[in-house]
Amino acid sequence: MCGIVGYVGDPAIQSGALDIGLDALARMEYRGYDSAGIAVVRPGELEVEKKAGKLANLLETIETDGRDRFAGATCIGHTRWATHGRPNDTNAHPHVSFDGKAAIVHNGIIENFAELRAEIEAAGIELASETDSEVAAHLVALAYNAGPTAGDFEASALSVLRRLEGAFTLLFTHVDEPGTIVAGRRSTPLIVGVGDNEMFLGSDVAGFIAHTRQAVELGQDNVVVITKDAYRVMDFDGTPAEGRPFTIDWDLEAAEKGGFDSFMMKEIYEQPAAVRDTLAGHFVDGRVILDEQRLSDDDLRQVEKVFVVACGSAYHSGLLAKYAIEHWVRLPVEIEVASEFRYRDPVLDRQTLVVAVSQSGETADTLEAVRHAKSQGARVLAVCNTNGSQIPRESDAVLYTHAGPEIGVASTKAFLAQVAANYIVGLALAQARGTKYPDEIESIVDQLEEIPAKIEKVLELKDQVHELAEELGPIPTMLFLGRHVGYPVALEGALKLKELAYIHAEGFPAGELKHGPIALIEEGLPVVVVVPSPQGREILHSKIVTNIQEIRARGARTIVIAEEGDEAVKPYANALLEIPASGTLLQPLLSTVPLQFLSAEIARQCGNTDIDKPRNLAKSVTVE
Ligand code: M6R
Repeated sequence: MCGIVGYVGDPAIQSGALDIGLDALARMEYRGYDSAGIAVVRPGELEVEKKAGKLANLLETIETDGRDRFAGATCIGHTRWATHGRPNDTNAHPHVSFDGKAAIVHNGIIENFAELRAEIEAAGIELASETDSEVAAHLVALAYNAGPTAGDFEASALSVLRRLEGAFTLLFTHVDEPGTIVAGRRSTPLIVGVGDNEMFLGSDVAGFIAHTRQAVELGQDNVVVITKDAYRVMDFDGTPAEGRPFTIDWDLEAAEKGGFDSFMMKEIYEQPAAVRDTLAGHFVDGRVILDEQRLSDDDLRQVEKVFVVACGSAYHSGLLAKYAIEHWVRLPVEIEVASEFRYRDPVLDRQTLVVAVSQSGETADTLEAVRHAKSQGARVLAVCNTNGSQIPRESDAVLYTHAGPEIGVASTKAFLAQVAANYIVGLALAQARGTKYPDEIESIVDQLEEIPAKIEKVLELKDQVHELAEELGPIPTMLFLGRHVGYPVALEGALKLKELAYIHAEGFPAGELKHGPIALIEEGLPVVVVVPSPQGREILHSKIVTNIQEIRARGARTIVIAEEGDEAVKPYANALLEIPASGTLLQPLLSTVPLQFLSAEIARQCGNTDIDKPRNLAKSVTVE
């Protein structure tokens, strides 16, 4: 939620900061696209441009005005997902201090901004925007201009950080120190990129992967001061601290579209690799292994109850974890939308294992659920796609998904990787507790390892889905039905359609339809039905075939996803999307894929040409 970039380069290359800053903003835009802005700093001067809407608006203005205006070797930039104040030019970042000398960009929420705002107004300063962020620009200038930190930019910035409550990453610049950026973080991300004679800051590494793979992760309540050839880490009091250096293990190509017309489409095609890489290394010499296994087998044996907490697609992956863990481990599993978890006062203790699933590792609702669980003594296992992000840092153990960077706001490959990782957690529990024999675990592992090749087959459905979307034409609503693990798939299909095509869509358990929602069915209404394997639990399969007949009898146009060779469904399918056989629990790893294509294709039919950035959304939701 909001992307932040910072750059300090060689003053001899005066156009460098603008080019690098805008390029970094383009890579960071998936984090928020309500507005974008950049400030270039040179001795005694600050050039700021900011525009509501997507980055393209900012670029157009800069091109029209002429790039010469932005000469300078240091910049800070921002892509916004609005929280306080509408997405307009004034509320866009960077914000500039009353004296025009300091500029800031901010990600997060400053909770005590009303009180700080009142204090600034009492000093006779008029605030320009409706944002919580602007206070930081004025405060740093006030601190620099008078009082104990007068004339000391770094100390002034630190004094501001100490006064803020909430979650924030803040970058400060000042015209008196054009070769320096001071940045601080609490609960929202900030990574340093260490270049050769240049230094970078980013909300994530995508902002600077084109320039360096050497990065430094900052701890909670840490500050970093960067110049072109050095970085220093400290806490908010100025006491030296250590960052965690790491080498970025994916390359620039992973953050680019690679010939696809959208990141989402590229990411759909990366799913075989995402699942394969997530499974890799977890099954060694017949044993299931978790990544940063700070939970011992003994710990896993003591678990009496599992909670899965997550949001959006990650929540749907958690629903699937419930089916798998209860079946394999015979442990009760509760799944909870993370934003509801702590307010419900769930019953948690040392014997509770909380599995927190998050692609970004930044989602505020999930992070707060983790903190609540820990405060109640529960053990927390994070399933996460982002190395070193806040949720795994605060968890007892981590299982990383290896989907690579997911840029499309609608989750695709990260979702499938989460499902695979959740199943690894289930198998690790089953192994530790002895609820499955080693050969049973091995057989499930074998089936899992066949999944990437089967996803490749499902990807071949793309053209069929394209034709289907064209035939459907404009549709006001769409229903998705499933039973057992097909139900979370139905929910995921409906979520994808809502977020990409802006069409009303609902997912239901197929058996629940007759208790009310069947009233929605009318002539021609498209209904997607996810059919379980006829080879698995026969009872499930025959029940859903009956459900399909019920809706067909009422005029529904059925789009059926079923295993190859499932003859029983054929007479009732207006459209049939066939997927390879996989066994009941693993089928979601295949049946989700055509629904991703379907939502993307319908979105295009509806005129959403930028499926990577659906309206009102952001990739990482760092506010509650
Ligand atoms: O980063 P997280 O996995 O914690 O994100 C959770 C949700 O915000 C995310 O899955 C969201 O629902 C996606 N837009 C779904 O496509």
